Amino acid sequence: MNFLDKIYVAGANGMVGSAITRRLKLLGFQNLLTPSSRELNLLNQNAVEDFFINHQPQYVFLAAAKVGGIWANNTQRADFIYQNLMIEANVIQAAHQNKVKKLLFLGSSCIYPKLAPQPLREDSLLTGTLEPTNEPYAIAKIAGIKLCEAYRSQYQQNFISVMPTNLYGQKDNYDLHNSHVLPALIRKFYLGKSLENNNLEAIARDLSHYPIQSQKHEQLSKEQILDLLKRFGIKQEGGDTFIDIWGTGTPLREFMYADDLADACVFLMQNYNEEQFVNIGTGQEISIKELALLVKEIVGFKGDVCFDTTKPDGTPRKLLDVSKLHGLGWKAQISLADGIKMAFEHYLNI
Ligand SMILES: NC(=O)c1ccc[n+]([C@@H]2O[C@H](COP(=O)([O-])OP(=O)(O)OC[C@H]3O[C@@H](n4cnc5c(N)ncnc54)[C@H](OP(=O)(O)O)[C@@H]3O)[C@@H](O)[C@H]2O)c1
Repeated sequence: MNFLDKIYVAGANGMVGSAITRRLKLLGFQNLLTPSSRELNLLNQNAVEDFFINHQPQYVFLAAAKVGGIWANNTQRADFIYQNLMIEANVIQAAHQNKVKKLLFLGSSCIYPKLAPQPLREDSLLTGTLEPTNEPYAIAKIAGIKLCEAYRSQYQQNFISVMPTNLYGQKDNYDLHNSHVLPALIRKFYLGKSLENNNLEAIARDLSHYPIQSQKHEQLSKEQILDLLKRFGIKQEGGDTFIDIWGTGTPLREFMYADDLADACVFLMQNYNEEQFVNIGTGQEISIKELALLVKEIVGFKGDVCFDTTKPDGTPRKLLDVSKLHGLGWKAQISLADGIKMAFEHYLNI
């Protein structure tokens, strides 16, 4: 990639797409195309074709997708499979027709078989049954990887795919109704800290910045605020403040800061040209309990943490095997503690 090459980042407003855009700008790439979904709806094949014909991008990062937590994946099954298939098919076909030099597609580690051996190796894809709750999303993402492979084999297109681990960072989803574990912990500890400091103004400000389940939370009474927080396991009893966390706290997970992922994507766009997709992770795991205590310390919550063992734990371990990525010469740079500090700062500054 040269600094004046035209680079299209699909999904540039999202957590991953905005991190890729930041990284490219920092490195000196100046010719970026970053339309929002309002400006270019990737479900519309004619609009996608026109965009490629008019702008002729030379490189494409495909980070646009319909993304969500377990609840959304499980209840909007048709939307998840339809929208993701359409976005991938439209962009990849238009990239092929308009002779894009290279395209990078983002998969997700949640599309590996449910019981695949840990750490998850690239060759485990399609070796077993998928997790039923997000099967439509996983099938669509697997189709995206297969599209890249098929256009490579039939048309010699240099289309590559990556498989990122759990991500967090700037522009993450903080809606406690459907957020991933790390942003949920940041928000719960921040709300808990505000509650123990009796800072209802900070809580009200937070609720108006980050609506829960798309609802407006303005002009709530103190009782209504306490009720709402209690629904998400943030509560006061006898003057003490507690945060409830689902499960035993023993499951092991891997987390990567989105800007580290973006660095890996740009590195692979510049240095990797093979059919096999590449896992992107830190190679390090942490238990949910240790993670909770780390976030608690960074956010500055002084109260207690209770593990609600009546709630499910999910899979006991989820870690990517990153030996291929390390072999290619790339390693994650941002420690979990530094990443959480940065994510918390962005969370507060919005
Ligand atoms: N978040 C994670 O932990 C994680 C982990 C592994 C892999 N990934 C992968 O990384 C990619 C990006 O995820 P993310 O976390 O950045 O998600 P995100 O924050 O929800 O961003 C998704 C982006 O997709 C765009 N988009 C959705 N539908 C579109 C449409 N019809 N037309 C045009 N644009 C559309 C949205 O555009 P607008 O904002 O303009 O509407 C949004 O910017 C996904 O492929 C996901 O599978 C994410």
